[in-house]
Amino acid sequence: MLKNELTNLLKIDNPIIQAPMAGGITTSALVAAVSNNGALGMIGAGYLSPVQLRDQIREVKQLTTKNFGVNLFVPSNFEVIENHIEEANSLLDKYRTQLKVEQELEAFPCMKEMLQVYNEQVQIIVEEKVRVCSFTFGVPSMEQITLLKQQGVILIGTATTVTEAIAIEKLGMDAVVVQGSEAGGHRGNFISRHEEGMIGVMSLIPQVADQVTIPVIAAGGIMDGRGLIAALSLGAKAVQMGTAFLTCVESGAHPLHKEAILQAKDEDTTLTNAFSGKWARGISNTFTKEMHEYEANIPNFPIQNTLTQSIRKASASQNNKEYMSLWSGQSPTLAKNETVEALIQRTIKQAERGMI
Ligand SMILES: Cc1cc2nc3c(=O)[nH]c(=O)nc-3n(C[C@H](O)[C@H](O)[C@H](O)COP(=O)(O)O)c2cc1C
Repeated sequence: MLKNELTNLLKIDNPIIQAPMAGGITTSALVAAVSNNGALGMIGAGYLSPVQLRDQIREVKQLTTKNFGVNLFVPSNFEVIENHIEEANSLLDKYRTQLKVEQELEAFPCMKEMLQVYNEQVQIIVEEKVRVCSFTFGVPSMEQITLLKQQGVILIGTATTVTEAIAIEKLGMDAVVVQGSEAGGHRGNFISRHEEGMIGVMSLIPQVADQVTIPVIAAGGIMDGRGLIAALSLGAKAVQMGTAFLTCVESGAHPLHKEAILQAKDEDTTLTNAFSGKWARGISNTFTKEMHEYEANIPNFPIQNTLTQSIRKASASQNNKEYMSLWSGQSPTLAKNETVEALIQRTIKQAERGMI
């Protein structure tokens, strides 16, 4: 009943895509369980090395014969402003002392290395014959689009505004995820400034659907059948759900992260750039609150991400959620700790009842 041209293209039974969530959340067990239950599992490969990506693709192939996808971060230029880095380091020293970690001595990633890793990731998608590839933080080059399309890979872009969605369609990509301001995790804006891209998903879906002919996938705050029907009614062909899958049994999210979402209220999320240098939505904690007044001068992604890495790691290993990035969308009270199968069945049943 819920099938359409996008579910046919992706060869899935249900118009549900599990959001790619980089950073260990999208385990092979999660991705395969989603695909085995008639939706589309996605590997969040943003922080995976080429070797790790190939290994995970092969692991997922052992667990499912169904289609699944990979999501990549498109590298973009970033400014290195020395006094912002010094300022950030002096602010972060307080947390390093508290958590007993050394200052991050690792060299910052440079654009050349980031591009090299990304190009290798694209090559792996081709070599491993992955059927679906989505992108965030930007769009692939024309050359990569041509290469991937020649291999039959279905390409999905991420947009936060109508302008970005139109750009994705013009490049010849096959579908567009529209990321509403409710969404958990990093903002995917790449043309519009992040403030301009803070459009609620209910406003964004029909405006994009009116302007592009490629299928629209709605993301942001969608947790169950009610959200799915609403998105389809507004012109989307599928939903991409992150937070709802994050608290599932098969997800690799840290137990404290799952717990923080399961206990959070609607008003507990905030936008912050203090963890990574890129704006993202998560559950507020001591770190987001204390860093709030310094947000204007935070070094760009990925510099701040590197600077806070040891703090986030130590916080997680010390079972202290106050300095971890607890990404979450705006509907945490609808999250449950259940299996992927239970989440997908509950969502589809509820949507089908609502469609009658
Ligand atoms: C923990 C977490 C990590 C995320 N990582 C990625 C990512 O690697 N790539 C991506 O395209 N989107 C990522 N997102 C954003 C999702 O694709 C999607 O926009 C968002 O989850 C939708 O909002 P919801 O969490 O309320 O469902 C992430 C979201 C979360 C919650």
